[in-house]
Amino acid sequence: GAPVKYNINKLEPGQMVTVEWRGQPVFVVRRTTEALQNLEKVVPLLRDPDSEESIQPAYVNPENRAIKPHLLVLVGLCTHLGCAPIYRPEVGATDLGGSEWLGGFFCPCHGSKYDMAGRVYKGVPAPTNLVVPAYSYESDDVIVIG
Ligand code: FES
Repeated sequence: GAPVKYNINKLEPGQMVTVEWRGQPVFVVRRTTEALQNLEKVVPLLRDPDSEESIQPAYVNPENRAIKPHLLVLVGLCTHLGCAPIYRPEVGATDLGGSEWLGGFFCPCHGSKYDMAGRVYKGVPAPTNLVVPAYSYESDDVIVIG
């Protein structure tokens, strides 16, 4: 499949869009500064916080899982059985653990939870973090996925 370009200049802080690449959904999120700060707080709840077992290119940071920290790019398929996780950025969502929930993604199929870097929580069916696809910046505002 051909690479796909996406211009991020209209993406607001906290907003997510889904871009199709090779028939797969790719989530593109502009993370807020608060969301980036919470990545450290959620570490004790995560299975693989340094992405040692999870699929991502070597050029993305293993903790925030991005090239530029504010912009997150993930394959939007749960690593359990491939359902589409739902973007749930609301800190403290009562249906997702209340004060322990610092925003992220929730898979409705069997309840897997991921943080705002797509890192999987402990104790859920999904074995690894969400996949980070190969991507690059063509300019400040244009990413190329694939
Ligand atoms: Fe996501 Fe099973 S497919 S938890």
